Amino acid sequence: MNFKIAVLPGDGIGPEISLWGVKAMEAVCRRFGHQATFQEALCGAAAIDQVGDPFPKETLELCQASDAVLFSAVGDPKYDQNPDAKVRPEQGLLAMRKQLGLFANIRPVQTFPSLLHHSPLKPELVKDADFVCIRELTGGMYFGEKYQDEEKAYDTNLYHRNEVERILKVAFEYARRRKGHLTVVDKANVLASSRLWRKVAKEMALQNPDVQTDFMYVDNAAMRMIQDPRFFDVMVTENTFGDILTDEGSVISGSMGLLPSASIGTGTPVFEPIHGSWPQAAGKNLANPLAQILSVAMLFEHFGCTEEGNAIRKAVNASLDANVRTPEIQVENAPHYGTREVGAWITEYLQK
Ligand code: IPM
Ligand code: MG
Repeated sequence: MNFKIAVLPGDGIGPEISLWGVKAMEAVCRRFGHQATFQEALCGAAAIDQVGDPFPKETLELCQASDAVLFSAVGDPKYDQNPDAKVRPEQGLLAMRKQLGLFANIRPVQTFPSLLHHSPLKPELVKDADFVCIRELTGGMYFGEKYQDEEKAYDTNLYHRNEVERILKVAFEYARRRKGHLTVVDKANVLASSRLWRKVAKEMALQNPDVQTDFMYVDNAAMRMIQDPRFFDVMVTENTFGDILTDEGSVISGSMGLLPSASIGTGTPVFEPIHGSWPQAAGKNLANPLAQILSVAMLFEHFGCTEEGNAIRKAVNASLDANVRTPEIQVENAPHYGTREVGAWITEYLQK
């Protein structure tokens, strides 16, 4: 294939990990006879600083003209500490999701055999945990009407039936391809929006009898995820709940730096780590490049290149087995490796 990739490194550790996503992709392309061209564009705080807009028009146009976007992270403390800031780096990410119509965010939560002891949960509990969270990405409180003055503020958790139907459709398809178990996560005991989700999901469950569908309140799901993560196969939920639950999910794996995601919908798909920009670590060669590299595996798989995706997963597992790991998951008394060393090791492994 001939891939045209838009690269959006963004802020903080973004540029450091982005580099290794690109290098891993180049190595796989060389090995499997694909071509890829990469073009970088501005996004997030970097874009605000340079052009005053966290998702400039040129960036949108590049994304639209590409086959896929390799995104890294956005966010900068100088905006977090200013509640009155008019533009925020995160708006760049949200604008990208909305403008590219990326309503489904696929976030696989997996464990790595060599990292079982690294999870804060008991190894026997997380062993073989393997589920996918399908997070709705362009609706809910993130995009509903907002208001703020000195005395009151609100965010509207608005969902239309068609938005619920299309995300559930993706979820049923995923469940069918996996173990056939779908858990719809909501707060239908309190929220009207959740009651609509549940109503639509019940109707669709009747049309998908081959999938075992169950329902769980989000507070209960948060508990179940760390008590018995193997219960889950595919879970589907609204934007805000999905954001929260997937950070929790990353803990099961042992590090936030391990989990990739794919955002799909009507426009160019985006592949990105679930973690943020970790500004404190920027430029320190500390960030784990694995989530970014695994995002490239998801990219290949999205285009039907299963073997290519597997090659990346194999290289990542090999690096973990060889203890070529960034500090947050390194074993005691093992050598120190940073972003560059881990990235270079994996790139070299992929070329073999
Ligand atoms: C994520 C992030 C984003 C989100 C932020 C950076 C806006 O936390 O992708 O999970 O809340 O969606
Ligand atoms: Mg998040």
